[in-house]
Amino acid sequence: MLSPVMWNAGRVRILDQTRLPAAEVWLELEQVDALDEAIRALRVRGAPAIGVAAALGCALAAHRFAGDDAERLRAAVARAADQLAATRPTAVNLFWALERMRRRLASLVGQPAGAIRQALLAEAESIRQEDLAACQAIGAHGAALLPQDATVLTHCNAGALATAGHGTALGVIRSAVAAGKRVRVFADETRPLLQGARLTAWELMRDGLEVTLICDNMAGALLGRGGVSACVVGADRIARNGDAANKIGTYGLAVLARRHAVPFYVAAPFTTVDLSVADGAGIPIEERAPEEVTCPQGVPFAPAGVRVWNPAFDVTPAELITALVTERGVIHGPDLAAGLRRLARPGDRGFE
Ligand code: MRU
Repeated sequence: MLSPVMWNAGRVRILDQTRLPAAEVWLELEQVDALDEAIRALRVRGAPAIGVAAALGCALAAHRFAGDDAERLRAAVARAADQLAATRPTAVNLFWALERMRRRLASLVGQPAGAIRQALLAEAESIRQEDLAACQAIGAHGAALLPQDATVLTHCNAGALATAGHGTALGVIRSAVAAGKRVRVFADETRPLLQGARLTAWELMRDGLEVTLICDNMAGALLGRGGVSACVVGADRIARNGDAANKIGTYGLAVLARRHAVPFYVAAPFTTVDLSVADGAGIPIEERAPEEVTCPQGVPFAPAGVRVWNPAFDVTPAELITALVTERGVIHGPDLAAGLRRLARPGDRGFE
């Protein structure tokens, strides 16, 4: 199974997603600064994978700390957590994972340095394993929503590459195929960084799944032609009322899906749910460098100096979401808020 981020002999090993599909390059990160750069540059990306990477980053900080002074080691880990929290603002899995690592750290006061190192690594590894299990459960719940012969349109990459493995939106597709369904996938290329073209197409083809690539502006024509059974996407943060932030372009796709009466499913683990945020207006949206728009893959496309707006995410209002597919079950609309309340548990972000 493809897993893009893991612990490997005292280092954080990631598949450099900026190099895909041209080259499969694995990086062995030995310093928190290198992991910080890798998250910012989207070498490791996708909400759950960012959370796992940050948790492993805390373990890395503990591992790299030289000496036996447990108090100073705890301070070094806390600094690393603060540093990693500043890498990307939208995917709440990052903050959820760091909070869990901070709580574990706080529970280790009085423990010797070696025990702290071990406990933090075990906690990060649990987060990784739990994400994998969540993706598999999301896959099973979501697969049941697809017809025996399905055509699915997806946006960005919510696949194995974006998680500890299996994927959320692509996990639904993988599980449906494993259950004997036929699924044809259409993948939006996902401008500006082309996660759909570079990553979704790559990982589905790698698994021998049926995928057809389209430019983002072809989605309306595809839905208008008929024959798409469902849109399935991931999420970076789901607010208490069910509004969901995901890769820029998701909102437009949801509007098109509603126009054509195609179900619009958001597949995400509860680590992506932020009950402390009332609705989408409270979700911070990352804005990235203009060059990502003007100079894709290093090729200049636009006049030098043109003004650019480059939000990395948008918010799909709950009313456009047919259902949220979580590891705890499917939450059907229209009252996503009630479903989130029903399935929420202690440990979820913002749970009261
Ligand atoms: O900027 P990215 O590539 O990290 O954005 C990723 C997405 O928007 C994904 O759809 C989302 O994180 C869900 S991944 C299971």
